[in-house]
Amino acid sequence: MPDTFGLRKFVAPEFIFGTGAMDLAGQYARNFGATRILLVSDPGVREAGWTERVSACFDALDIPWILYEHVTPNPKDFEVHEGADIFLSQQCDVIVAVGGGSPMDCAKGIGIIASNGGRIADYEGIDLVGAATPPLICIPTTAGSSADVSQFAIIADTTRRIKMALVSKALVPDVALIDPFPPTTLSPELTAFTGMDALTHAIEAYVSRVHSPFTDVHALEAIRLVAENLPACIRSPLDMNLRDAMMQASLHAGLAFSNAILGAVHAIAHSLGGMFDSPHGECNALLLPHVVAFNYEACPERYDRIARVMGVGDVGDSAQPLTERIMGLNATTGITRRIAALGVRSEDLPELAEKALRDACMATNPRTMTAADVEGVLRATL
Ligand SMILES: [Fe+2]
Repeated sequence: MPDTFGLRKFVAPEFIFGTGAMDLAGQYARNFGATRILLVSDPGVREAGWTERVSACFDALDIPWILYEHVTPNPKDFEVHEGADIFLSQQCDVIVAVGGGSPMDCAKGIGIIASNGGRIADYEGIDLVGAATPPLICIPTTAGSSADVSQFAIIADTTRRIKMALVSKALVPDVALIDPFPPTTLSPELTAFTGMDALTHAIEAYVSRVHSPFTDVHALEAIRLVAENLPACIRSPLDMNLRDAMMQASLHAGLAFSNAILGAVHAIAHSLGGMFDSPHGECNALLLPHVVAFNYEACPERYDRIARVMGVGDVGDSAQPLTERIMGLNATTGITRRIAALGVRSEDLPELAEKALRDACMATNPRTMTAADVEGVLRATL
């Protein structure tokens, strides 16, 4: 755990928060000098109407745009390169991403390749993006990934079957237009997955080895907001007070984890996503209570604080009240599968563990894990 003293950095983009924020996309693109925009989205977001709503803003200002929407969940390396080829061949100069974490992460990758060339795997790791990337405007349509405020991009390397973490200040979008209205079209399942992703971001940031007072305040507020609002938001998907609260939760969680990094839940979830293309938020939700149980002894006072913020009355001296609270949240939000249902078999655990231990997020987990520890967590969710 860091002491009270020492240098701390906090990076955050400009953001506009509130209903109607997404309609500012054209104005911001014009402010960035756009003469041709690459609009990055995916088919689900287009079918929900959000891609067209954003492109209408460009049409209103006569700014030409080109759509790239061959983006899948867990965005792939070849999708980044396909998008970058379009950006360069069509002489685009601004990127606008509308969607969940996948289009936004893919858009960040496109920006890296457009300015720096090479292969996206060359930039895996911390601070390896040299040349400045093109202006990037992010419009999230889920309340969870927080790619719109983070300095992370997670891209699947389809050859090595891993998810690469790219971390750089260059990946912080130039502006995030955070509108709580688009998530109203999400399925209950996606609301649950993305909401639990936000909770995991906040909890992992709060116990991270590099947390700071500046990340703690955002992490705790995100934890409170998810615990108080996610189940109700799934029951009443059109309640804008609840959607607003969940979008605030995602924003706070993003500010926290972008600066405090993450931990073992994400390291293992990335390993699962890379090998099985499994839903990121669902993996996090299933792993979270088991990682909390393992980590608890490293910083019990921090986990007890999390439990109290989540409304646990008697935190006791063990991880159990908090793990039960998280499992209860999973059950109420409909997250009930086991990872075996994602295709994982017990013989896969050694390779999953090895890949998780090499993930960049593992370094900030509060308790050091061995391969046997990771396999133990995975076995508990099998
Ligand atoms: Fe995440």
